Amino acid sequence: MTKAAVCREIGKPLEILDLELQAPKAGEVRVRLGASGVCHSDLSVQNGTLLQPVPAVLGHEGAGTVVEVGEGVEHLAVGDHVVISWVPQCGTCYFCERDQGELCEVGSAALITGGLLDGTSRFLLQGQPVLQMAAAGTFSEETVVPAIGAVKIDPDVPLEQAALIGCGVLTGFGAAVNTASIRQGDSVAVVGCGGVGLNVIQGARHAGAERIIAVDMVDGKLERARQFGATDTLNAGAGDPVAQVMELTGGRGADVSFEVIGLEQTIEQSFNMARRGGQTILVGVPTIETNFTTPAAFGLVFAEKTVKGCWYGSSNVHRDVPKLARLYMEGELMLDELISREIALEDVNSAFEAMGSGDVARSVIKYS
Ligand code: APR
Ligand code: ZN
Ligand code: ZN
Repeated sequence: MTKAAVCREIGKPLEILDLELQAPKAGEVRVRLGASGVCHSDLSVQNGTLLQPVPAVLGHEGAGTVVEVGEGVEHLAVGDHVVISWVPQCGTCYFCERDQGELCEVGSAALITGGLLDGTSRFLLQGQPVLQMAAAGTFSEETVVPAIGAVKIDPDVPLEQAALIGCGVLTGFGAAVNTASIRQGDSVAVVGCGGVGLNVIQGARHAGAERIIAVDMVDGKLERARQFGATDTLNAGAGDPVAQVMELTGGRGADVSFEVIGLEQTIEQSFNMARRGGQTILVGVPTIETNFTTPAAFGLVFAEKTVKGCWYGSSNVHRDVPKLARLYMEGELMLDELISREIALEDVNSAFEAMGSGDVARSVIKYS
């Protein structure tokens, strides 16, 4: 039995239930979670913005210890510390071979079914299957995941910090370092400074950006953005952020802009604050009804602008997770500062409520 936070019905609070957890099948591992971050995408499943079949154990940003390995798993052993990847990456499909592991054919299928790679989940409630978000389900004391979705890390990295690497850090840092091409000395604008946006900011700094303009509606978020490397901050509620970015960049616009919320209005703003010849990276996950339009001639051709989607920070998790863990150990990656509250699994619904507050970058569930 394992205690887990289950979304049984869209729009309703998560329920803490005792579930049966089946043993890992071939190519899977059972992981005892040490910690799980609560990410905006969990809330997006709970409130119906992101389509994920329910009932399901939510949570997709976790790290823990391998406690059982299924048949044929050779690269992991009991006792290994792992970060769970919500896109399992096979390393050999068309996309993985082209360094686009975030689009892995094998792993992506699981995102849709709510099961593991064979489409079934390992959680049961009174004999009925309970699905697992993104082949993960980290709002649970234990889970079973595909072995290609568990990445071994240095056991010296604390599991609370390691958990954050699994989604927010990979996504944000990767958006700046992998998806965008930031050059030394570039000016960058980041719209939305939540858990993911802060990582875009520290990734942009790592990539050599000189000016990093943070945009948010909450002053507390902007203060924290400065701590992560923003050189300028703009409160979008206090005036048109596009005009303000223009003013800060000599009327040209930013070399690279990032949208890290997923709203039509902020996507438009991000596009408009990028300079001619610049790039806009869309990181935030919009609803399926959200559109983005621009006049083809003036928006794109004459202005030579690029708009690029960013999925999971364009990360090869088998390369990037250990790299980020190493950067943290070397003092080059801020993870401690992302953890605003450590909570118990039972308090997961309160973490959803806290998300809008300026004081909270990430709530992290700590398992005992
Ligand atoms: N203008 C500027 N900032 C805004 C606006 C707006 N109109 N609306 C919201 N924000 C800010 C919020 O104040 C908050 O700081 O955007 C930030 C969003 O942060 P979080 O809620 O912490 O979300 P996060 O976990 O960072 O995820 C952001 O990335 O991975 C995706 O699904 C995720 O779409 C979500 C996005
Ligand atoms: Zn996430
Ligand atoms: Zn693959």
